[in-house]
Amino acid sequence: MSKSKKTAPPSGPRIAIAIMAAGKGTRLRSKLPKVLHEVGGKPLLAHVIAAATKVVAPDHVYAIIGHEATRVREAVASTGVGFVLQEQQRGTGHALMVAREALASYDTIIVLSGDAPLITPHTIEELRDFHGAKKAAMTILSARLENPAGYGRVIRSNTNSADVRAIVEEKSATPAQRKIREINSGFYAFDAKSLFGHIDQLNTDNTHREYYLTDMASVFAKTKNRVVAIESKDPSEILGSNTRAELAEIDLLMRRAKARQLMAQGVSIFYPETCVIDNDAEIGADTIIEPFVQILGNTRIGCDCRIRSYSVIQDSEIADDVLVRQGCILHDAKVQRRAVLGPYSHLRPGTEIGEGAHVGNFVETKKIRLGKGSKANHLTYLGDAEIGENVNIGAGTITCNYDGQTKQTTIIKDDVFVGSDSTLVAPLTIGKGSYIAAGSCVTDDVPADSLAIGRSRQIVKEGWVKQKRGNRSKATGAPQQKNDEIS
Ligand code: UD1
Ligand code: CA
Repeated sequence: MSKSKKTAPPSGPRIAIAIMAAGKGTRLRSKLPKVLHEVGGKPLLAHVIAAATKVVAPDHVYAIIGHEATRVREAVASTGVGFVLQEQQRGTGHALMVAREALASYDTIIVLSGDAPLITPHTIEELRDFHGAKKAAMTILSARLENPAGYGRVIRSNTNSADVRAIVEEKSATPAQRKIREINSGFYAFDAKSLFGHIDQLNTDNTHREYYLTDMASVFAKTKNRVVAIESKDPSEILGSNTRAELAEIDLLMRRAKARQLMAQGVSIFYPETCVIDNDAEIGADTIIEPFVQILGNTRIGCDCRIRSYSVIQDSEIADDVLVRQGCILHDAKVQRRAVLGPYSHLRPGTEIGEGAHVGNFVETKKIRLGKGSKANHLTYLGDAEIGENVNIGAGTITCNYDGQTKQTTIIKDDVFVGSDSTLVAPLTIGKGSYIAAGSCVTDDVPADSLAIGRSRQIVKEGWVKQKRGNRSKATGAPQQKNDEIS
């Protein structure tokens, strides 16, 4: 499953990055494969791939997939990385055995873990450079943790040495070894020739009956190949997500970092710990994000906007100077500058709101264009509609876009005034400058500059009430009530 490789850079070793992502993630108790669980709004594996592809080109990055391989592959196919199939997951060592064919022609193999998404390109580069400088067979990225429980421990040859004798997994560690706070991050650099020359010496002689990649440390140490460890400066970068609690912790770290980065770029975020801002969101300077806002997916928000509390904005584009009032929901929508939304507007996919346009309380839109300066301020449904500039859509207007089988379009030209409580039955065109009388049911096209009234005429029956009361009191024999008693 390996892909054709790019020509190597003129100098330096040819480097591949292998990302182990074949495991099931038993500890998450999930139908979803572990590496597709999301933090910061995208799958764990997508984060690791993003970091890897900043260090080497995507065609030198290989994701080793296995459990639910098709699903995992589809989720990250657009990144352009190669895939290696590990049909049976017999351990991290086995993952690399399976990848031999794809990786053997490189000089250096950097191994990352698909479930550890906080790794940065900078740290990968440090690992690469340290490995190169030490001329080691294996370089381990380690970290010193307050609570090392659950991780493999790094056993140094002697305390002040860069050299490592072994990695022991928590389950196999002696009580003394468990006290060691230096842990194995699960990220390594290998000399490819040494790795594939010795990998067959791994065995499954351990609690899980798996081939542990970590055992390469003792295999190399015993065969006098150098193993070193470089300690990560930021231990949080190596956190793995084996449980739901760890996923939540990583998600929190990621969102905090994102909020801090946005604030450094000039965005105000009130109570940032209450906001959910996905990693790929972009927000311009002097925009204010109020508490309890969610900004999700590939959302881009311009400068000088204000996003009021409880709004949820997903995969949308908002230009400069836009006001999003409380409680708006936007999904796959585009909003031009100086528009005002909400409170409580629901902009569904395919909505485009023009410059300075207003969409107000309890207005739902879907696949529409609302032109510059147009307004739909209250209690309205606009679906499959093209609405021109300076149009006023009265409260309670409904575009009837669905006949039970197909969707039909409503076209409303510039300067139209649609009176309140109008029902616009598509397909329909309302010509420029026309008026629709309030309460109309409009089924036929309206030419420009016309008034359309689509309702029955009002009838007023004078004295009708008095007469009715008179009839009632006669029938029951009750004394007739005087008019001024009920007025
Ligand atoms: C591993 C290390 C441990 C280290 C920790 C850091 C081993 C034996 N242990 O433990 O020393 O402290 O990472 O987070 O390596 N995978 C495959 N194929 C397999 C098995 C696993 O691709 O056959 C993938 C998993 O999907 C995962 C990664 O390898 O992304 C790590 O596997 P995991 O089971 O999470 O290892 P840990 O128990 O965390
Ligand atoms: Ca793990």
